[in-house]
Formats: sequence, structure tokens, C-alpha cells
Amino acid sequence: MKHINKLFTALGITLLTACAQKPSENVQVSPLMQNEDKITDLISRMTLEEKVNMLHGKHMFSSAGVERLGIADVKYADGPFGIREEMEPHSWNSIGLTTDSATFFPTGSALAATWSEDMAYQYGMGMAKEARLRGKDMILGPAINIQRLPTGGRTYEYLSEDPILSAALAVQYTLGAQDNGAAVCLKHYALNNQENDRGSIDVKVSPRAMREIYLPPFEAAVKEADAYGVMAAYNKVEGYWCSENGMLLNEILRDEWGFHGMVISDWGGVHNTVNAAMNGMDVEMPGDRYFGQALLDSVKAGVVPESVIDSKVRNILRVRLAVKAVPEEEANKMMTSQPEQQQIAYNVASKSIVLLKNQNELLPIQTDKYKKIAVIGDNAVREQALGGVGAGVKTLYEVTPLEGLLKQLSGTDAQVEWAQGYRAFSKHERETRVSPYTKADPKLMSEAVQLAKNSDLVIFVAGDNREVETEGSDRKAITLPMGQDELLKALAAANPNIVTVLVTGGPLDLRVVDQASPAILVSWFNGTEGGNALADVLLGKISPSGKLPFTFPIRLEDSPAYSLKVYPQDERQKQDDIFVNLVDEKETDQKSGPTADYAEGIFVGYRWYDTKHVPVQYPFGHGLSYTTFNYSDLQVKADNEKLYVELNLSNTGKRSGEEVVQIYVSRPDSKIERPLKELKGFQRVALQADESKSVKIEIPLEKLRHWDEAANDWKLEPGAVEVQAGGSSQDIKLNQTIDIK
Ligand code: BGC
Repeated sequence: MKHINKLFTALGITLLTACAQKPSENVQVSPLMQNEDKITDLISRMTLEEKVNMLHGKHMFSSAGVERLGIADVKYADGPFGIREEMEPHSWNSIGLTTDSATFFPTGSALAATWSEDMAYQYGMGMAKEARLRGKDMILGPAINIQRLPTGGRTYEYLSEDPILSAALAVQYTLGAQDNGAAVCLKHYALNNQENDRGSIDVKVSPRAMREIYLPPFEAAVKEADAYGVMAAYNKVEGYWCSENGMLLNEILRDEWGFHGMVISDWGGVHNTVNAAMNGMDVEMPGDRYFGQALLDSVKAGVVPESVIDSKVRNILRVRLAVKAVPEEEANKMMTSQPEQQQIAYNVASKSIVLLKNQNELLPIQTDKYKKIAVIGDNAVREQALGGVGAGVKTLYEVTPLEGLLKQLSGTDAQVEWAQGYRAFSKHERETRVSPYTKADPKLMSEAVQLAKNSDLVIFVAGDNREVETEGSDRKAITLPMGQDELLKALAAANPNIVTVLVTGGPLDLRVVDQASPAILVSWFNGTEGGNALADVLLGKISPSGKLPFTFPIRLEDSPAYSLKVYPQDERQKQDDIFVNLVDEKETDQKSGPTADYAEGIFVGYRWYDTKHVPVQYPFGHGLSYTTFNYSDLQVKADNEKLYVELNLSNTGKRSGEEVVQIYVSRPDSKIERPLKELKGFQRVALQADESKSVKIEIPLEKLRHWDEAANDWKLEPGAVEVQAGGSSQDIKLNQTIDIK
């Protein structure tokens, strides 16, 4: 199923603001723009106090409507990977409902590893269905910032280091959610690519990098999917807080992209009443410090015109009327997590698992050969739905890796035994800022080594946990925490048949893992059904088919911002304190922080490694299967609008499988500085053994444009275009060069 882009947003503006005539029958007008007269009437009947009362948080996760006029409150839900439990009105404490356990969907990087637009649509749909059961109007997600740093604290929530992949999935998540009755809130707009000092840093970025790398996911979800909500990020961009950044909120989002929905602040992200009011912020969340009495006073004093207030109210009402309010008595009537959504979570998880390597075909596990299986690692039994700072899911259930395996192997001759192997990094340690990069625990290590010795096969379930990867702070390293490398070396000396399963949301330094394990899988923070999906892949019920949405560098120092020494800034590795401030209600006003210098420009992720010829451990787009694929017969044509790429893909192995065909473009004669190649299209293709399919991918020429800083506009450079097709950014199988005008 491929969902057609809804290009009605821009049309909506032209039709409804430029002329009063009726839109032609075949042009779909954005649901946001279908109630303009009614909204004008409602606004005319509101007092100034009622209007201002709509512009700030009423409770922690709601903003007020106007009861007298039948306007319901707007109810928000975190997002992005499961509907958060019900909280007390003015705290982060749960109210302890028994019906608010939700489906824990695989987190962002897992969704992105599916490279599946269909999965992203279903994910958005699943989130919306559970949001509606809980009476929520707006999902605080998808989280679509680019993964700029391998250590970024929220890498697991975000999608990819690549803007085309992130944009395509953001569009489908948005369509899936909004087609099913809940608004999305794209976050965090914009350039919130690090967690350390996120509440004070000032991002300096070239206009070209901003346009080509960081904004496209937001732009696409607004223009192609009519996203109803956008969340302004905590940081500053070019000297201005995102919550008062006229360039981002007014010029780009509204004027250029034609956004008609509402902008809300990140929680505690507003710093000044007049600046935020005049520069595009609609709703301050979660309190009323700046957009309560202070805003009312500013209007009364003539500093903020009432027309500005009216247009904010209009933005909110557009969303309010496009999303049907769930009557109070209908919300929370049944359990939030429902079987259809659990199935979606399974489907996403099963397509997200990445097989990094598989020497000697160790996988899938031959249970007739390996009867005694040691499962080693704290992550084999750890649930990942909650943890760290920020959004988590009170999940109805979560199948751990060990549970998944035990279920699959019950009734067989295989014997499974578990040893913890390494200690988990705990909440207490995170809070007291203990480093997770410590030595192995000798007792746990020796138990695990003993078990490995007595087993035929070792499944080492390694990686981070949600205390290591967390909102509010970046990781200090990408090495495996809690002495896991040391443990793995000892395990490998005891038993060479080691499959390493990496439970992680971000890249890791795999130098030791690669030496010690003939087979490696990445299984992410993979949701409610994660353990079942993993067991199905390990035991060969399905072939792995995920592809890396970001690069695994060899060393952290190889990555662009580290290599250029522009991150960490000022050696300040301290945890961001905005969250703490928010809870204490000691908000920061004009806190000035370090500059985040995006000196690598457009050379983010594989664009850097490829172009600078920096070797990597596992490249962007990489992922193996239990079967093999053959690419042939590439044909590329172009007209004035698109590149038409066609090729033949065959399954040449003995099992069914799915491959993600990736199309990269290189501009050999370009006069402009460019990455060696850039992803421009992709398609997931399912093939039975021996089956072949013709794969057709169309690439609009506008995706080949670059941002011309002098012209302050997009430009399409004519000339040779080398189209490359393959199974990863470093596994190009076919190429053809064509000229475009
Ligand atoms: C996060 C947002 C989240 C909000 C509400 C903030 O700290 O940055 O992503 O939606 O809290 O929980």
C-alpha cells in the first residue's frame, strides 16, 4: 500500500486566501481550511480573556477551549512511540489508571530501519487509534530531527541521519495518524540535534545545511501530509529561541510551506511573552507564565495587537474543528493497547531487525545442531518501554528477548539457560551522573563464561538501555556500556559460536563485537512485540530485512562533528537542566549557552564518511538477509519532472525475503560542492525464493535541487546525473548516467 501525497495544503492557501471563489471539485481542501467562516464567527464572539486562555497549558497535557461556545480543550499525548499514561493535572506523576496501558511501538530508529512507508503509515494509524481511545487530540510526535551526532540522547526517538528517508517516513506517520482522527505534532522544530545544553545552545548552521539536511522532514510532513501541529524546540537557532524564531516559525513554516495548523512550545520552552507572541508561537506548554496574564497585559498595553491573538486562536480552532473531540465519558473506557496495534508493533519490529553480519551462516540458529543455548546479557530480560528522562510508555506488556526465545523453543529439544553477564546501568546511576562506561562485574562475568563453556551456542544480548540513551543528555561515548566488551572477549575465548544481538537506539563502537562474534543483529528498542520478532528472526521463521538508518562509524572520533571538534561544546558534558527546572518551576529566562557550530555543513552521516573517504564499521543502508538478491537491467529515463528508475530484482536464494532497493544520486560534473552521493529514493520489495520483480522508483527532479545561498532559493543544476542502485550506501550494484536539463 502506498499512500498518495495530499498536496492540498498549498492549494488550500491559494484557493482560500487569494480568492473567495469555491475550490474546484477535484481539489481537496485541507481539513484545516474548511471552517474559516465558522472560526471567524467564533472568534468574534470571544472575549479577549477567553482567547488568551486558549494560548497556554491548562494542565500538563491540555490547553483550554471555551466551554460557553462549545469549544473543547485540546488534549495532547506523548508520543512518539506509544501513548503516554494519564498524568496528574500539574505534575509528571501518573494518576494510576488501570486502562491506560498502551502499545509500546518500536522506537524511531527501529521504524526507520524498516525503510517502509507502509509501516510508517500503520504506525501513525496505530498511535492515533490508541490516542482516540484515550480521548487525545494531538500526538506529540513523530520526532523527526536528523541524527547528527552518534551520541545524541534522543537518537532512538529520531528516525535517520538522512533527510529523504526521514521525510518519507514522517509523511506516512502523519498521514496514518491524521487519517485516523488524531493530529500529529512534528517535533522538535528545529535543529534540536543534541540533548546536552539543549535548553541553552545556539545553533549556527549554514542556510544550505538547514534546508538540505535538517528541515526536509518537517517540510515534507507539512506540505505533503498537512501536519496539523508543530512543536518549537528548546534550543536557539541563529541567536533566537525556536519559540520566538520568526525565520523558522513565520517565514519558513507559514509563509513558505503554507502551514495552517498550530505551533506549541516544547515543555517550558517559551522565554519571553512579546517575542514569542510576535514571532509565531501559538500555545505555551505546559503553564501560563508567558502566555497567561503577561500576554493579556501585553495586549491591553498595545504591545501585542489583538489581531495577533486572533490569528493564534484561529490556528488552534482550525485544528480543534478538524479533529473531533472525544466526549469525556467515552475516553478511557477500554484498555489503550489493542491487538491490532500490537500486531502493527510486531510487523514493524519484524522488519526492523538488521543483520549486520552472518559468517559461516551461523544464523538462523540450527536447533538440531545447537541444543544447549546460552542467552547472556541483562538486555535479554530487560524491558525498554520506560527509562531515562522523557517519554516512555506504560506498556500493557513487553516480550523480552529471552521470553521470545523461550516461547519459540518450547517443545523442542533445545535447552536455554540465561546468565546476566553484565550489570544494568540504573536510573539511580544516571541521576547521580555515574558513567556507564565502567568495567565488567567479575562475578557476573565468570558465571556467564562458565555457562558459555557448557553451551553449544551463545546469544549475547548486549547494547545500551533506556537509562544510557535518554532525553536530556547525550551519551559520552558509543562504546558498549558496563564492561560488555571485556565480557564479550571472555565469552569468545570460551565459545566461538556467538551471536551478538544489539539492543540499542543509536550507533555503537563495534570493534570488539566484530572480532568476537561471527553473527551480529541490531534489534533496537523494539516495542511490545520485540522479543517475538527477534526470536522469529534468530530461528529463521522470517528473514531479517532491516537496513541501518544511520552509519556505525569505526570510532566516535571519525564522525563529522567530533572530527571537526565542534562537539562537545566547551567540554560541557553536563546534563541539560531544563527538565529539572520545569519540575521545580524555576524556569530559565535568558539563559545563554554554548554555540553549536554545525561546521560540517551538509556533510552529515554517510555524506561525510563517503565524501571524506573515512572508513566505517557498517555503512548507512546496510543490512543482510538469509537469502540473496540480484540486481539487473537498470534503466533510467528523465523528463522535465522526474527521473524514472527501473530495475529487475531477483531472489536468488532458497528462502523468501525482503530487500530495500536504494537509489543514490551522484553529480560527477557538478560545479557545486556536494556529497559523493545522496539517497534519493528507495523501495522495500518482498520476494519468494526464485521470484523476480520489476522495481520502479520515480524521483521528482525537485529532490535533486540544492539550496543556493546567494539566490536564497532552490536551484536545479543541469548536467550529468549518475543514478546508483544497490542494497546499501556502500553496496552499489548498478549505475547509469543520464543528463538532465
Ligand atoms: C520533550 C518533548 C515532550 C514534552 C512533553 C519535553 O521535555 O522534549 O518531546 O513531548 O517534554 O512530555
